Amino acid sequence: MAHDDRNKRSQHGALNADRRKLLLGLGTAAGGALATNLIANNARADDKQVTDAPESHRSDVEQRVPFYGVHQAGIVTPRPANGMVVSLDVIADTPADFDRMLRKLTERIVFLTQGGQPPNLDPKLPPADSGILGPVVLPDNLTITVGLGSSMFEMRPWLAHLKPAHLQRMKQFTNDALEPDLCHGDLSLQFSSNTADTNIHALRDILKNLPEYLVPRWKQEGSVPTVLPEADGSVPSARNFLGFRDGSANPHSSDHLLMDEIVWVGEIAGEPQWAVGGTYQAVRIIRNFVERWDRTPLGEQERIFGRKKMSGAPMDGTKESDVPDYAKDPDGKITRLNAHIRLANPRTPETRKSLMLRRPFNYSNGITKNGQLDQGLLFIAYQSDLEKGFISVQTRLNGEPLEEYIKPIGGGYFFVLPGAREAGDYLGRKLAEAAAAGPPTRS
Ligand code: HEM
Repeated sequence: MAHDDRNKRSQHGALNADRRKLLLGLGTAAGGALATNLIANNARADDKQVTDAPESHRSDVEQRVPFYGVHQAGIVTPRPANGMVVSLDVIADTPADFDRMLRKLTERIVFLTQGGQPPNLDPKLPPADSGILGPVVLPDNLTITVGLGSSMFEMRPWLAHLKPAHLQRMKQFTNDALEPDLCHGDLSLQFSSNTADTNIHALRDILKNLPEYLVPRWKQEGSVPTVLPEADGSVPSARNFLGFRDGSANPHSSDHLLMDEIVWVGEIAGEPQWAVGGTYQAVRIIRNFVERWDRTPLGEQERIFGRKKMSGAPMDGTKESDVPDYAKDPDGKITRLNAHIRLANPRTPETRKSLMLRRPFNYSNGITKNGQLDQGLLFIAYQSDLEKGFISVQTRLNGEPLEEYIKPIGGGYFFVLPGAREAGDYLGRKLAEAAAAGPPTRS
């Protein structure tokens, strides 16, 4: 240790000793315990070194979302702070390949989301785990949600007859500038967890264990800011990168009947039998022109969305949970007729069928070639009918004033497989069995 360092450390020690004396000098019986605690805390804080790890909390890393169930996790389960969508191409030429891929993928997802200790292998071999989370993999609130794109079905004759009724390749909307490298894919993986490291660890595990089946195509990470509760204990929605609360009018994901209506494919939906319990996922990578937005007057920003920026209240309300009354404002004097929320959900009986569940993350990627911040929204929405849900809503939004500040550049549509029911079951089992059985023969 250099002389200077030793000097500083001994001065530091002397200061701590002085503080200890001072606190102990408070010396009443009641003050004693307090003083001891303060000393312990102070000593710990003072001993912290620059490269000491930021501390995590056991209660967070041990948070575990059950894997087995009628539906996959990561859709109506609360959104943690970090998310990532990865689109992959699948190498599976036969129903048997496809079945093996699904079993292996499920096995990895169970391990990663429930946690455990990777096996110790012979050091002559690559280790079983990347090690980036340490020797034990803790669940950290991780969910991994698997969907299939239309190309998965269309490119394989033995799957074509099993394609979900509304699954299709994402088409260009009027304001889109889709980059081919950021679009579509055979299979989507949505990772959500408390930390970006847990998501990346899970992705690396899956790529390492399924190299013969999966080739990544594009990936987008994102996060949601944590939010302080209000004085009354309620927790407002998190803000997106345009500074507005995002999620205010989202349907309640804990309302099971509502989710059955809006999100989950049911028995009577005209879908193949294997798809019951699944849902359609619409993913959009939407760039935000934040520099331009930050130079736009507040009043204009609020008129564009139809909500007040700080509170999140609708234009005719005072708090975020207030419901706008468009019937009382037919000419759009209070909430413009082309405001984002009014177009997205006109709140008429006919447009109820286009409700969807949004589960977005904000993303920040770096700097664009022309020196602008590359930020935006990793928009993710779930619905039981892609056409009535996302496609209708986006069609209504075409031409909205918000378009001056946003540019969709990527994404895709996927069908999220129903859940694996219990240990031994695996994601997509019914689909794999139907594929193995072959198309129905005409009599
Ligand atoms: C960067 C792009 C976008 C931004 C910044 C954005 C932002 C917002 C904000 C601030 C709200 C109001 C708060 C809330 O209810 O969550 C909202 C509502 C909503 N947005 Fe977006 N949004 C974007 C893209 C989209 C897209 C692509 C869709 C679907 C096609 C969509 C559908 C909706 C819906 C359905 C609502 C709720 C309207 C209501 O029920 O009142 N948004 N959005």
